Amino acid sequence: MKDMKSDSNSRSCNPMRPKTHILFVCLGNICRSPAAQGVMQSLVDERGLSHKFALDSCGFYGGHAGDLPDKRMRVHAVRRGYELTHRSRTIRPWDFDEADIIVAMDGHNYDDLMEAAPSPEAQKKIVMMTDFCRLHPGHDTVPDPYYEGAEGFELVLDLLEDACAGLLDAVCEGEV
Ligand code: 4NP
Repeated sequence: MKDMKSDSNSRSCNPMRPKTHILFVCLGNICRSPAAQGVMQSLVDERGLSHKFALDSCGFYGGHAGDLPDKRMRVHAVRRGYELTHRSRTIRPWDFDEADIIVAMDGHNYDDLMEAAPSPEAQKKIVMMTDFCRLHPGHDTVPDPYYEGAEGFELVLDLLEDACAGLLDAVCEGEV
């Protein structure tokens, strides 16, 4: 896990900024990152923490901008109780200012984010989703399911449920 401890207390306890802004990032913003946003929204709602978090997602490729998540992703997600309504968008320069935590789904997303980040402070906000998995230690990426079958979408959701719970716990405990 990338060391963000030095920033963490100001982020989670600042009364002027009561919400922690988490931005999930993948390539197309139609499969993994909107699913991560939906899974995390469900978790914060369940825990009565929705007033403390602002969740969003985006991607680097704009070919699906404005679209709902991929139909297959929505079908697999809704079976687990997640309704995905986000509209795809590309990352914007000010996302690095607005977000407190920027979560990459895979190594390419991570490298692209590090390159696009305008400052070392912005780079410190970038973390890997799988670093927060507790039940899937063998996975260091949330794999792109776009050209995969049903099992690819199920694996994405398995990893995201594990990692979002880990990330939420880490934020609540002031570790991120
Ligand atoms: P995502 O999956 O990054 O998880 O949204 C993808 C969706 C679409 C494409 C690539 C990845 N695409 O190239 O169209």
